[in-house]
Amino acid sequence: MNYNKIKKIFLNFFKHKKHKILKSLSIINNNKEYSNLMFVNSGVNKFIDYFLNIKKSKYLKIANIQKCIRITGKNNDLKSIGYDNFHHTMFEMLGNWSFGKYSQKTAILLAWELITKKYKISKNDIYITIFKGDKKNNLKFDYNSYNICKKLVNKNNILFFGYKYNFWKIENFKLCGPCTEFHVDIRNNNDKINKLGKYLINKKNNNNVIELWNIVNIKYIIDNNNNIIKNNNPLSNNYIDTGMGLERLCMILQNKKSTYEIDIFIPIIKKIEKILSIKYKNNKKFDIIIKIISDHIRTIFFILLEGIIPNNKKEGYIVRKLIRRSLIYTYKYININSPFLYKILPILFKIFKIKKNKNIINILYNEEKNYFLILKKNIYLVYKIINNKILNFKLNFIDYKLLLYFYETYGLYYFIIKKIAIKLNINIIKKKLIINNNIEII
Ligand code: ALA
Repeated sequence: MNYNKIKKIFLNFFKHKKHKILKSLSIINNNKEYSNLMFVNSGVNKFIDYFLNIKKSKYLKIANIQKCIRITGKNNDLKSIGYDNFHHTMFEMLGNWSFGKYSQKTAILLAWELITKKYKISKNDIYITIFKGDKKNNLKFDYNSYNICKKLVNKNNILFFGYKYNFWKIENFKLCGPCTEFHVDIRNNNDKINKLGKYLINKKNNNNVIELWNIVNIKYIIDNNNNIIKNNNPLSNNYIDTGMGLERLCMILQNKKSTYEIDIFIPIIKKIEKILSIKYKNNKKFDIIIKIISDHIRTIFFILLEGIIPNNKKEGYIVRKLIRRSLIYTYKYININSPFLYKILPILFKIFKIKKNKNIINILYNEEKNYFLILKKNIYLVYKIINNKILNFKLNFIDYKLLLYFYETYGLYYFIIKKIAIKLNINIIKKKLIINNNIEII
């Protein structure tokens, strides 16, 4: 089942269930009053006013497919990109919402119907996780969810987790609540027999039982002292927020083991292979580069389409960071030092059926060109700084403080300084290097 069909089925299903279908709204978070996020990082961000009873929605049941970005803050997937098989800086979230109109029970049954009847995911492969309560925050076991779910799957396929996994709460966001999650086992039959899927859920390095759909009952609010309090509005029992990752759903329905292998990524990866003359799945380093570029270019594309220009502030800084991260990996591993990302954009216009916009191609080209010029200039400058210090007997080795300084002031990564150090015959003492989370020393 292809990407477009999967989306269509979702929207038709909820249309049929009398939901108002909305388009994907802007990925820029323009309601900063209740959340200081730069980008929308979950479909619900756009509807916070309705859940806080600040505004009334014209529609009480809504569904949409929302582009979300998770690059900044704690809910940040950036460091996993390139190194695992299903994290992305941007993803599309299939979501449905009830602003007081239907309960958690209905939401669970709707989700169940859609994934088992329409998408035909086998019932035996579905595991459901339920909130078991949390004493510290005075939160109770989610009986409602359990009573429904035990009728859907075998009891062995139900698991209970606490606050960490089954209470949805996101940084800088006022809404939260217990959640019920559907996970899907994508392994072959032998592996399923050898080890039950339930032992893999929420385990580190598990690429096989995938969290697919999160159904949250938004009945709590985080107050100004960071306490979780019950939303007094009686309607809040019927405040529902759900989210399912489109890329993961495509991966499951297309029988793939990685979201990078689904139909929308294949042409992007082919294009990258062609431009960089490397092959995917031949070499570990190339795979990292290809995953990073294919992920980042899609995010860059959608941010640029919003009219954001790469610069040093807020959203502009984020898009610049993604561009530079893509370029530095290719520079490091395959020595590419001229613009190439802009050449991938035409394929994205095609895949996502968006009218070609030459302006953003030019913006990207110029940003890439400038970056390589800056890089060259800064390498020369830092070379001179180190050389002068050596000549003046002011430097015996390069320590982590200096590395940090070169990174923060000149944007030069460890591997570049190492090359300079080798040329100038000076040692690097790398101890304690990673002292700042924002720094990625490659
Ligand atoms: N808001 C919920 C999530 O992001 C659905 O998982």
